[in-house]
Amino acid sequence: MALGIIGGTSLFSTKLLADAKERALDTSYGTVYLLVATVQSQEVVYIPRHGKESSIPPHRINYKANIRAFKELGVEDIIGVTSVGSLKHAIPPQSLIAPHDYISLCSIPTYYDTELIHVTPGLDEPLRKRIIDAGRSLGISIIDRGVYFQTVGPRLETRAEINLMKEYADVVGMNMASEATLATELGLRYANISTVDNYAHGIIAGEALDYKDIVAAASKSREKVEKVLVKVVEGMK
Ligand code: HPA
Repeated sequence: MALGIIGGTSLFSTKLLADAKERALDTSYGTVYLLVATVQSQEVVYIPRHGKESSIPPHRINYKANIRAFKELGVEDIIGVTSVGSLKHAIPPQSLIAPHDYISLCSIPTYYDTELIHVTPGLDEPLRKRIIDAGRSLGISIIDRGVYFQTVGPRLETRAEINLMKEYADVVGMNMASEATLATELGLRYANISTVDNYAHGIIAGEALDYKDIVAAASKSREKVEKVLVKVVEGMK
């Protein structure tokens, strides 16, 4: 069974996909650009959530089509790779974190637009553990708990928003909760590894925050994340 990976800023130009075959898959929610790669002789289906040209902003990502594409290809385990800002001094940039829960209070996507069905959201604990164990066996430290706060994007947060979030969550990002929720609705397993690429706005007094720096920081963690993903894939044999 193929592993699904959905990545964004943290995996821009990843080497994992060097020999991947490109595909455009039509789903009832829209067409999804994806790559099918062989990693350690295992099939990996990779969806770049910002699209082929890395140009779709977070609030316009077609999450329903993306997660549906995994389902249609028979993928049952999905690892989301996301870039986050830290809400805590103790979680410095360049850390990796595998969140155990999330908060997402607005723009919650759903497949249940015409049926009265309420799933109980969450992350898949066995898959999360596989990510953490992969890191451990490589000597790559992954913070093994944390609450992810999802915002809508595309703008970053105000200082006041971050002051509120930091009381309840550890990292802030724009994607993970939507993917996890939709995966749950389709009965797929979803867990996440996030690269901590900055302190969120105002966490360090006087520190300026610029998206270009976030992208540059994410590229520094890419190699570590790739190693962890390869190790998870190896464990599938
Ligand atoms: N806020 C929201 N999303 C992010 C951030 C941030 O500070 N860093 C990386 N993704």
